[in-house]
Amino acid sequence: MQHLLSVQDLSLETVEKIFAETKAIEKDFHNAWYSRNQTMISFFVEPSTRTRFSFEAAMQHLGGRVLSAPDALVSSSLKKGETLKDTFRTLGCYGDIIVCRHSDSNWPEEAKKYARIPVINAGSGEGEHPTQALLDIYTAKKELGEIQGSNWMLCGDLLHGRTIHSLIPLLKLYKVNIFLVPAYIENRQRQIRLLNTDSKSLSFDEAIAVLPEMDIVYMTRIQHERISFTVDEYVQAIQISQRECDKMKKTARILHPGPRGREIHPEIDDDPRAAFHERQVRNGLYVRAALVKMLLERNF
Ligand code: NCD
Repeated sequence: MQHLLSVQDLSLETVEKIFAETKAIEKDFHNAWYSRNQTMISFFVEPSTRTRFSFEAAMQHLGGRVLSAPDALVSSSLKKGETLKDTFRTLGCYGDIIVCRHSDSNWPEEAKKYARIPVINAGSGEGEHPTQALLDIYTAKKELGEIQGSNWMLCGDLLHGRTIHSLIPLLKLYKVNIFLVPAYIENRQRQIRLLNTDSKSLSFDEAIAVLPEMDIVYMTRIQHERISFTVDEYVQAIQISQRECDKMKKTARILHPGPRGREIHPEIDDDPRAAFHERQVRNGLYVRAALVKMLLERNF
């Protein structure tokens, strides 16, 4: 069975194949008809706007059907204590592909063991978010042209931010230079260790000094819902406003997986470098359509 559960399972060749399929879908999106008869089960235990809607819109655009549980923790039998094992075995009887988000970072292991149809990880607790990382890199390639050797600054909640945890291993495939800017100094070493990377870690002041060299500035929000210590412990409050933006190259881009917190000031929303609104979001639709199609075709 082929799933997309972790970026650890993706080679550079597979990522490039996904991007080639994405490009083809994007080029002729209104004729991206593929699957009249197949059904996606969209099973979301944690809140989502972009990820869930883009998957569901992608499947509908491909001509398939969608069964959606946007509040699965209260609306499904998980509420009655049913296990993930039984949940995956059951859902597999009603559709052809499952897109799942759950707060338990180990749920993909259960999916791997028990799902009889392909499963896509749309977020696993503070663990991973592989499809977000793919669309982030697809966006960067589209905006910059080439990303080999480019400079990326990843800012925010490195400890709990699953998008970052998926993004770093994929970026390593492209040999980009990574600069990490933890949102709070508390746990800084733990954050860096967790990411298992030899990338440079910078304070916000140090980050400002190297901003003019960056090609991508990737901002993320503080994951308040996953934090057990008090907000007062944050030492740094990172924010990109017009002042910081003015230090960046004209060709640089600001990305954000959304939802945005205070880390990007709305005053830069219309700066051409701010790619995180429509451009990055729209790419999510194309990348996810490609992934669904490839998994349904068992062509992964
Ligand atoms: C992210 C997530 O859910 O991990 N959002 C998303 O899917 N685009 C980022 C976040 O919630 O901070």
